[in-house]
This record gives sequence, structure tokens and C-alpha cells, in this order.
Amino acid sequence: MARVLISGITGQDGSFLAESHLESGDEVHGLVRQSSLLQRTRLDAVPALVNARALSRLKLHYADLSDTSSLVSVLRNVRPDLVYHLAGQSHVKISFDLPEYTADSTGLGTLRLLESMRHVVPDCRFFLAATSEIFGEAKESPQNERTPMNPINPYAAAKVYALNLVRIYRSAYGLFACAGILFNHESPRRGENYVTRKIARGVASIARGRQTELHLGTLTPKRDWSYSPDVVEGMRLVVSAAKADDYVLASGVSHSVGEFCEAAFRIVGLDYRKHVVLDPNYVRPVDITETLGDASKARSELGWAPKTGFDELVRIMVDAELAELDARGDAA
Ligand code: NAP
Ligand code: GDD
Repeated sequence: MARVLISGITGQDGSFLAESHLESGDEVHGLVRQSSLLQRTRLDAVPALVNARALSRLKLHYADLSDTSSLVSVLRNVRPDLVYHLAGQSHVKISFDLPEYTADSTGLGTLRLLESMRHVVPDCRFFLAATSEIFGEAKESPQNERTPMNPINPYAAAKVYALNLVRIYRSAYGLFACAGILFNHESPRRGENYVTRKIARGVASIARGRQTELHLGTLTPKRDWSYSPDVVEGMRLVVSAAKADDYVLASGVSHSVGEFCEAAFRIVGLDYRKHVVLDPNYVRPVDITETLGDASKARSELGWAPKTGFDELVRIMVDAELAELDARGDAA
């Protein structure tokens, strides 16, 4: 039984990762931060999939990425075998509004955690959730582990710093520090202000007669979208590899935001062009035109490949929103 510590356990990926390790019989510890409302809705989904005995192996600890002493204290108490570092401000558009906070939580937060680990649990394995955003307007397509980094927003710049730290701690101190360079991955647990969840919620709401319009910033950018549980499976393979290294985890197929809309509205028999309204409030100062990942290293060295295709992903997300609306009896 491994002792696993997850920062960002209340998030989309953190909740799937917790579930996956509980199902494997591991002890799962999560870092949670102080907030005025105890809303951990994604973790509430865990009991449905694991039994009560497994839940007794889930423990939450208050800590903050801005408070090194809290990180040291949790590491001393838990003495984890594995740390997954998923926490931090990770909304691209919001990073333009909160650049310093983004740098502090996403960039320096990684430094504080790595430095604490180096002193307290140097033999612990460390996984960083890095991102395709590090490539910016990429100099090549598809992007792989050797594609030059060229960040174009404060979030991406913070993740470049975090990824460089992983590489430095690996070579300078011999830490088992590795990273997944993750392309977009989605699920019904995705934050509501990311485009796929926003579209799925909008489609369900329009289909049930609760609204008529869906406001989006742009339809043209293309993203390489996967399903979060598939990517979480990849994270587990990266961190259990024989050697610490960095791996792209991506589907290898990209679709535009407009194509996601078209597929999502089609599920409920509607034409997205009659409902989507372009709204400058959601336009970013700069945006990546297209991301496309080459995960052949993860496939050949770790045997990883995503199982869920684009159409299935869209259906999973729209069906979940329809089911939630219908369960609440909210249909107009
Ligand atoms: P998410 O749903 O937004 O979850 C973020 C998690 O980080 C939440 O648990 C959140 O806690 C926590 N958090 C945010 N700011 C924090 C802070 N200042 N201090 C402590 N905790 C903080 O994100 P996700 O989609 O699961 O993504 C997980 C990680 O993968 C992130 O690092 C993200 O940058 C990276 N990534 C994601 C994708 C993707 O497509 N999903 C792609 C590439 C990389 P609260 O619940 O308290 O807010
Ligand atoms: N959020 C949002 N809201 N995005 C919109 C909207 C809108 O109303 N309209 C169009 N978009 C476009 C964005 O401009 C972007 O081109 C695309 O939809 C995807 O936006 P997001 O879903 O917000 O994701 P992201 O690609 O910016 O970032 C996500 O993926 C990264 C990995 O490539 C986040 O999860 C990042 O944390 C992650 O690193």
C-alpha cells in the first residue's frame, strides 16, 4: 500500500486521482486550503465509486502553497511515497487578471513543495502537472517533449518555471521528480469556466428551455482534448516509471471550439449557429491558435494511450449536464 499525497485533490484531476489510488488500496492524503465554504463537490463523487472501507483511507490536511511551514508539517506527518502536485491557479484568461497570484501559487508554490520535499522526504517521488501552454504559438506541430518552450500568458510562464524546477531538482539533487506535459483534458468535473464544461452546461440548459443563448469568446482556436480519467491513468504511469522523466500526454487530434459546439448541440438535435453568441468579454489578450500533442514517447515507454475519443467525450459531458438538470427537476 503506497502513501500518496495530492495537492489539488479537490480539483477535476485530483478527485479522479484520489479515486484511482483508493481503488488500488493506497492511502490517499490531500492538501486542502482554508475557504469560507466547505464545498468539495468533486470529492463527494468519490464515495459513489469506492466503498466505505476505502474512504477511511482518505485523509485531508489543511495547508497552503504560500505557507512553506504548512507544507513541511504535512510532509513530516504523512511521509508520502508519492506526491502529485496539481494545485495552483490554472485558468489562462484569469492569469492575465491575477498574474502575481498565478506566479506565486503555480510557480513559487512548486518551488516551496520541492524544496520542502528535498529536506523532509528526499526519497519520495514527485509528479508535476505541466501543460501544453508552455509551447505557446508552437514552433512545430505536433508538440513533443523537445519542442521549444514559448509561453504567451502569465499562467504558462509560471508553468515553464515549475517544469524547469522539476528538471533542476532531478539533476541537481537526484530527486525522483517527473512531469506530465498535459494537453487539455475534460470531464463532467471540469471547472464551469473552462470552455468544454461551459458549452456542455449551455447545451443542456438550452435543450431544457432554461436559456436560449450561449456566450463564448471565439470559435476558432483548436485544442487537443482528452478525457481526464485517461490522463490521470497516464500520470500514474509517469510517476511509477523506472526512471524520472517528462512525458507529453495528449490525444494527438485537435478540434476547434466551434467543432466542440457543433458536436454538443447535435446531441440534443440543435444547430449551434442559432444559439452561440460571440462575446468580447471572453476574448483573451492573446490566445494559442492550435495545440496538438505527440504522445508517442508515453505510448512506447509507458504503454499509455487515451481510450476515450472526442465524440464520446462530448457525449459524456452533455449527458452528465442533462442528467443533473433532470435530477434537480429544473426543466422549464
Ligand atoms: P482544477 O480543477 O482547476 O483544480 C485545481 C486545484 O488546485 C483545486 O484543488 C484547487 O483548490 C487547487 N488550487 C488552486 N489554487 C490554489 C492555491 N492557490 N493554493 C492551493 N490550492 C489551489 O484543475 P485540473 O483541471 O484538475 O488541473 C490539475 C492540474 O493540471 C493543474 O495544475 C493544471 O494547471 C494542470 N493542467 C490541467 C489541464 C487540463 O486540461 N485540465 C491541462 C494541463 C495542465 P480549490 O478546490 O480549493 O479551489
Ligand atoms: N474558458 C473559455 N470561455 N474559453 C473560451 C471561451 C469562453 O467563453 N470562448 C472561447 N474560448 C476558447 C479559449 O480562448 C481557448 O482558446 C479555448 O476556448 C480553450 O479554453 P479553456 O477551456 O479555458 O482552456 P485553455 O486551453 O485556455 O487552458 C486549459 O488547458 C491548458 C492545457 O493546454 C486549462 O486547463 C489550463 O490550465 C491547461 O494548462
